[in-house]
Amino acid sequence: MKNGAALSPAIQVPASRMPTGWRSQFGKPSGVLGGLIGHLMALKNKDRSWWVLPMLEIHQNDCVLEVGFGSGIDIRRVSEIAVDGFVAGVDHSPVMLEQATRRNRAAIQSERVELQLGCASQLPYQDDFFNKVFSINVAQFWNDPVTVMRETRRVLRPGGLVAVAVQPRSKGAKEGIARLTGRSLVENLSAAGFNEVRLEVKRMKPVSTVCALGVK
Ligand SMILES: C[S@@+](CC[C@H](N)C(=O)[O-])C[C@H]1O[C@@H](n2cnc3c(N)ncnc32)[C@H](O)[C@@H]1O
Repeated sequence: MKNGAALSPAIQVPASRMPTGWRSQFGKPSGVLGGLIGHLMALKNKDRSWWVLPMLEIHQNDCVLEVGFGSGIDIRRVSEIAVDGFVAGVDHSPVMLEQATRRNRAAIQSERVELQLGCASQLPYQDDFFNKVFSINVAQFWNDPVTVMRETRRVLRPGGLVAVAVQPRSKGAKEGIARLTGRSLVENLSAAGFNEVRLEVKRMKPVSTVCALGVK
């Protein structure tokens, strides 16, 4: 479903909708519980990933960055498509870096994949490096989403594509929150300078996933 919403000033996903309690582990998995959560994400998020990744139209020579790779399963999926390209990932959780490194060991050894500990607001790559950047269920944790999206734009080549997807998972998240989240993603990508910004929405259980796309 397309949503050509008119652009108005950027809005923030309110803090009250941020995951709390054990769910806050999803923002920066740590310790044994964090490791278990990583494996759970790898098992449970397949449908969401296989809805988002085709929208990036990844080709075998592509140079792709994932921001917030978690378990590293999507890094593996993308590197199995971009077989003659380069796939990088940045995540601020040491536990996720360790788990994702295990999931991608062979591709890392052959230097087709590179995973780094780092923050979305300060990506360790030079300007115009990637032609695709994506992030799935991470944007809800960004305190200053426009700054992160500007940083994403910096590392993209002109004409490069960004996809930022969120399936709200806070307690009791409903369709209205998914709609608001989609609107904030679109407005923030536009505020960060992306062109051709659009929103895609996929009905899923327990709540829809929204994905905003834009071009540098
Ligand atoms: C809910 S998990 C999603 C993981 C994966 N993208 C997926 O869909 O299964 C969020 C991930 O983003 C990482 N993350 C959250 N905020 C981040 C930030 N500002 N910079 C880097 N990584 C971040 C967390 O450490 C965690 O691994």
